[in-house]
Amino acid sequence: MEAKTPNESKAIMTDLVLPSETNPLNNLFGGELLARMDRAASIAARRHSRRITVTASVNHVAFNKTVPLGSVLTVEAKISRAFRTSMEVFIDVWMEDRFSGERTKANEAIYTFVAVDDAGNPTLVPPLKPETDLEKERYAGALRRKQLSLVLAGKMDPHDATELKALFLD
Ligand SMILES: CC(C)(COP(=O)(O)OP(=O)(O)OC[C@H]1O[C@@H](n2cnc3c(N)ncnc32)[C@H](O)[C@@H]1OP(=O)(O)O)[C@@H](O)C(=O)NCCC(=O)NCCS
Repeated sequence: MEAKTPNESKAIMTDLVLPSETNPLNNLFGGELLARMDRAASIAARRHSRRITVTASVNHVAFNKTVPLGSVLTVEAKISRAFRTSMEVFIDVWMEDRFSGERTKANEAIYTFVAVDDAGNPTLVPPLKPETDLEKERYAGALRRKQLSLVLAGKMDPHDATELKALFLD
């Protein structure tokens, strides 16, 4: 299969934060943000694989900033690495200032999606060819994040997580 670039999978979703999506402090409810990120990441994974894709794992979420009611929120998702049948997706969340229009980074997350066939069986995906420095950096760290996720899920023996172990031994 021919390699694709992260930009070919890029998915951008912009939407308002409405009252039904906030907590009692009038800030965006965390579960709502998780759902928005899941949708954008799912589109990115589909664009990369051109297959049905399912969320296998939420590897990391950082709710760094509160997102107030009425905010314009942009969720950007791109594939950061493709393995055999799974894909790591990086999601960056931006908030737009109401007056200046300036964007600030609000949150970020990393999800894993798996491409499946019509019967739900994992199926091969094209490799990823990172282009920018940031894409290369995310690509390089993806294997150890995959191993960490598999170890935590009880699907990999920690002794086999060589890339992950190297992080602590270096
Ligand atoms: C995701 C799913 C297809 C994986 O099936 P499986 O039988 O574990 O298949 P495999 O063991 O062959 O794993 C398939 C790939 O997923 C990866 N994977 C599985 N669990 C993972 C996890 N927790 N974290 C990271 N990667 C994971 C495997 O490493 C493998 O990757 P690779 O082929 O690129 O090396 C299956 O568990 C599933 O359908 N889960 C439900 C998905 C779903 O409904 N999501 C929405 C939740 S509401």
